[in-house]
Amino acid sequence: MRRILPIRSAARMTRPPKLLVFDSGLGGLTVFSEIIKLRPGADYVYCADDAGFPYGSWKEPELVARVVSVMETLIAAHAPDMAVIACNTASTLVLPHLRDRWPQLPFVGTVPAIKPAAERSRSHLISVLGTPGTVARDYTQNLIAQFAAHCRVTLVGSATLARIAEARMQNGGVCDEDIAAEIAPCFVEQDGRRTDAIVLACTHYPLLVEDFRRLAPWPVDWIDPAPAIARRADQLLRERGFEETFAATGSARAVFTSGKKPDAQLRATLARFGLVAG
Ligand code: DGL
Repeated sequence: MRRILPIRSAARMTRPPKLLVFDSGLGGLTVFSEIIKLRPGADYVYCADDAGFPYGSWKEPELVARVVSVMETLIAAHAPDMAVIACNTASTLVLPHLRDRWPQLPFVGTVPAIKPAAERSRSHLISVLGTPGTVARDYTQNLIAQFAAHCRVTLVGSATLARIAEARMQNGGVCDEDIAAEIAPCFVEQDGRRTDAIVLACTHYPLLVEDFRRLAPWPVDWIDPAPAIARRADQLLRERGFEETFAATGSARAVFTSGKKPDAQLRATLARFGLVAG
């Protein structure tokens, strides 16, 4: 007779987990802010590779080498229990390399939310607004073939929106005309139908979503994958024995690969997200 063995769950951890949340700049804060809602008791290191920003126009082999080398330093310095790559431009390219290099470390990526957009769209006209790198990736093409074959998908690679989002976070100075021009190609009309869902395929863009709503030629569903990424991170932590007790608040600090000391404005922005510099 075959014995059915119980599934062994991971041993319960008695310390909080440490998460490394990584992006080229401040865009990853849109993912971080969702994760910390589910996991207020965890310890966080938010790293912005501002010395490499923007990633959107890097050539693929160079970007792989860059991200692996920055992660090498970060993982050695912080020994995280999980790494969240809060960047579509990096995730759509570098995740397999990171998983090969650190097979024991769980990586959670951020990739264009094409599946939910295709499911929600009624007009079957959807757009993907990302960096030039993300919209050019094979990974993105595969998502479209797998989940949105019944839709017309317009890919819009913006070379400037991530910079505009950084400006909004660092000194507030952004120009409506510049933003309107960048989002305009997302809005397509065809045979009496209109685009009704736009994927925010760069973690910087949710920082501008109120501007996008205000400047859009018609209302659409702006799809931000951050809440789903946070749920995935939470689930993986549970599988590794890290339960959230909500009993305590962990530490959360932000580091910059340029080594810069944030000015008062940037410190205030980080503080709004619950982060301290350094
Ligand atoms: N935040 C990044 C993303 O999600 C990229 C911005 C950039 O460095 O170009 O794609």
